[in-house]
Amino acid sequence: GVETLLRIPPSVLKLHNKKEDAWTAINGKVYNITPYLPYHPGGEKELMRVAGRDGTKLFSLTHAWVNVEFMLDACLVGFLVSESYAS
Ligand code: HEM
Repeated sequence: GVETLLRIPPSVLKLHNKKEDAWTAINGKVYNITPYLPYHPGGEKELMRVAGRDGTKLFSLTHAWVNVEFMLDACLVGFLVSESYAS
């Protein structure tokens, strides 16, 4: 539920940059993309380019028509916040 979602600053997002522990932020929401890696139509390598960072720009450049909010709802970890608003 929403009560368990985290406020995640860029410094924490950055730690999740490995295939077996990959997070990305899209439009302010942070998703665990590890379970989706094998299913990404564009391949794992491309998807890993946004691991550990804000992927909003790259995502919208490649497929702005994809509804990531709906698709990855079950993978939602929390919300990207600025460094000073963490914890
Ligand atoms: C295709 C999802 C990130 C590159 C797709 C498609 C989906 C998808 C649903 C099929 C779209 C269609 O056929 O209309 C996602 C999600 C992402 C993500 C949920 C992030 C959470 C990325 C990134 C890149 C990328 C970061 C590249 C830098 C591609 C490419 C295709 C594709 C090249 C086309 C594959 C093909 O048709 O052969 N993605 N994507 N994606 N994606 Fe992603």
